[in-house]
Formats: sequence, structure tokens, C-alpha cells
Amino acid sequence: MVLTINGRAHRLSAEPRLVLLDALRETLGLTGTKKGCDQGQCGACTVLVGGRRVLSCFVLAATVREEITTIEGLSAEGKPLHPMQQAFVEHDAFQCGYCTPGQIMSAVACVNEGHAGSEDEIREYMSGNLCRCAAYPNIVQAIRQVAAEMHPEADLRMTEAG
Ligand code: FES
Ligand code: FES
Repeated sequence: MVLTINGRAHRLSAEPRLVLLDALRETLGLTGTKKGCDQGQCGACTVLVGGRRVLSCFVLAATVREEITTIEGLSAEGKPLHPMQQAFVEHDAFQCGYCTPGQIMSAVACVNEGHAGSEDEIREYMSGNLCRCAAYPNIVQAIRQVAAEMHPEADLRMTEAG
């Protein structure tokens, strides 16, 4: 099978039952994507496929046809951080950091989907990403900042919502 990840094609010889998360971490050494529950319940393994967020522990690698973006692909080494990564740093939106790659990938999609119009909406559309350290308020603030930068009219609605 061939997986296109972060702009690069990777040819893999693997069993059909290989899940995308294990292909990324174990086969290709892309360990930025984390394994939490391995049961589709925590969001730690979130990556983008064709720009849409998916739980990579729940997808067979052989079924993936579109481009995959992992946390490693958001900003190249030596380049500035992606705005969402920068916002997470600025808002101290993590403690142990284990959930953070999944949170950031999901947050990027949340904003791109147009689901970051208010803090309530952000909480709703980020509810699939769990954080044992309960960094939720800071995560919401980081997403709110990026959404406001990308969609100033959304910032107005958030201000009105209080
Ligand atoms: Fe995939 Fe938890 S590891 S949802
Ligand atoms: Fe520790 Fe989220 S920062 S689980």
C-alpha cells in the first residue's frame, strides 16, 4: 500500500489489518500521533485525512486514499510553528502534553470546519478529545485566538456571547 503523509509518499508492505495509528507510529516512526485508549474514545490519535479529522486507531491503513497530515506535518523542522501550535504554547494549553498532538490536529480541523464560532461551539466540537490534565479552558482559549485571527467576524460573535 502507499500512504501519502505530510506531502511524502510511503510504500508499505503490511497486513490488511494494520490500523493507521500503528502504521504511523510503529512502521513509519511518526510517533507524534499518540495512542491513548486504542478504542476510538479519547482523540489522542487524531490526524487529518483529506483535511478531515479521523481517529487513526479506528481506520485500517489500507483503506486510506487521501493525503494524511500528522502533527509532524503542521510545521516543518526549523520553520515557525503552525498558528495553532503557537496558540497552544501562548495559552499554556497542556500539562503532560500526551493529548496535545490530537488536540491540535482536532483544533485545526475545528476552525477549518467553521465550528469555532463561540466557546460553547468549540467545547462541543472538541468534545471527542479528552485531556486527563483538564487543560480544557486553556485549549478553548487557544482555539478561540486562532479562530479570531482567521475569522474576525467570529471573534465578534464570541465577544457578544461573553
Ligand atoms: Fe484513538 Fe483513543 S487512541 S481514540
Ligand atoms: Fe495531559 Fe492533556 S495535557 S492529558
